[in-house]
Amino acid sequence: MNNMNIDFSKWGWKENPFVLKIDPKLFVGYNEQVKAVLDHIKNKHKIALITGKTGAGKSTFLKWLEANYDASKLYVSKPPKKPEDFVNLFTDIFGFSIWERILRKKPSLYTLPEYINKKLKENHLVFLVDEAHETNKEVLEWLRVLTDQIDNVSLVIAGMPNLEQKIKSELETFDQRIITRISLTSLDKNEVKQLVRKRIEDVGGEGIKPFTEGAIEKIYERTGGFPREVLKFCDRLVKSALEKNLDVIDEKLIEEHKEIELPKVRLEEPVVTFMPKPPTEEQFRNLPFKQKIILELLSKKDWLTPRAIVEELELKNYKSKEHAIRSVNNILKRLMLEGYVQREARGKAYMYALTPKVKTLFVES
Ligand SMILES: Nc1ncnc2c1ncn2[C@@H]1O[C@H](COP(=O)(O)OP(=O)(O)OP(=O)(O)O)[C@@H](O)[C@H]1O
Ligand SMILES: [Mg+2]
Repeated sequence: MNNMNIDFSKWGWKENPFVLKIDPKLFVGYNEQVKAVLDHIKNKHKIALITGKTGAGKSTFLKWLEANYDASKLYVSKPPKKPEDFVNLFTDIFGFSIWERILRKKPSLYTLPEYINKKLKENHLVFLVDEAHETNKEVLEWLRVLTDQIDNVSLVIAGMPNLEQKIKSELETFDQRIITRISLTSLDKNEVKQLVRKRIEDVGGEGIKPFTEGAIEKIYERTGGFPREVLKFCDRLVKSALEKNLDVIDEKLIEEHKEIELPKVRLEEPVVTFMPKPPTEEQFRNLPFKQKIILELLSKKDWLTPRAIVEELELKNYKSKEHAIRSVNNILKRLMLEGYVQREARGKAYMYALTPKVKTLFVES
């Protein structure tokens, strides 16, 4: 059914609220992720990585940042493939001084950092790069060099979940510079309701009407809170209610849409991994014994689960192995908050490794 020919006026709507458009003012939820990225930028950290499956809201998230963060910002919907397009991104916003024009001084890929530094002076630039999973190693390398050589830049790059793996396996230098890792998973029930309400009110409607509370609940269950699926499902329901001449969208109508049956589970992924300031050598020397031996083990073997650590260290003095694992788990969490270790979800368990900075402490000592 074409949106143009449908009359949404019976609910006071001037158009269909559930079109798949990206509009930063319709952004809801993802509070923890928003906080993490804002902290990242405020602290002028260099690289943040945002991953999420298609439709999770990566572009919306970046556009929201672009609209709401008060600093110089540059959003690109896709990383450019040619060096000259890459350079143009910056010359388009910063332009040229008369002097530069007279000398025809257009920066090359290699003089670009110098050019940007000169333009930025004390200002901070937030560089937002979308769809980074499509880019190749070379382009990621340009981005890395750029963030290394510009004093005042935070790079926030977003892509599908495979991007993280790709970076890890192909570009360790880039991987080690990622300070904040954020994953966009899905919205909770309350956020789904907010999403529906915001969209309805934006087209002139009232609250969640014609949806009932029960309907929202069912929509959440069926879509798993996955934003694009929520929109698609609501769109179907609205059109079906109009066809049937119903004033209200309730659970009963949803029951009729058996064809949409998504898994009810929420995705289990770490939402935010943050690497705070790395500890100094002295702080490191003063750590309690247990923390130290765990770090020493991790300096020899990367990416271990708490269970593997207990097994390797043959920890005694615990009532049972499960007790030991729980205790190691708590120690690791503390070490993570203090910037010693980083973690990743692998299936149900977390695996831990030293942060790059702490690794160098071990190499030096
Ligand atoms: N947090 C959110 N609040 C409100 N709407 C959202 C949110 N996240 C996503 N949406 C909506 O869901 C749809 C999909 O979001 P978006 O296009 O940002 O996803 P994406 O992760 O960039 O997907 P892709 O990988 O396919 O580019 C959009 O129409 C967007 O408006
Ligand atoms: Mg997108």
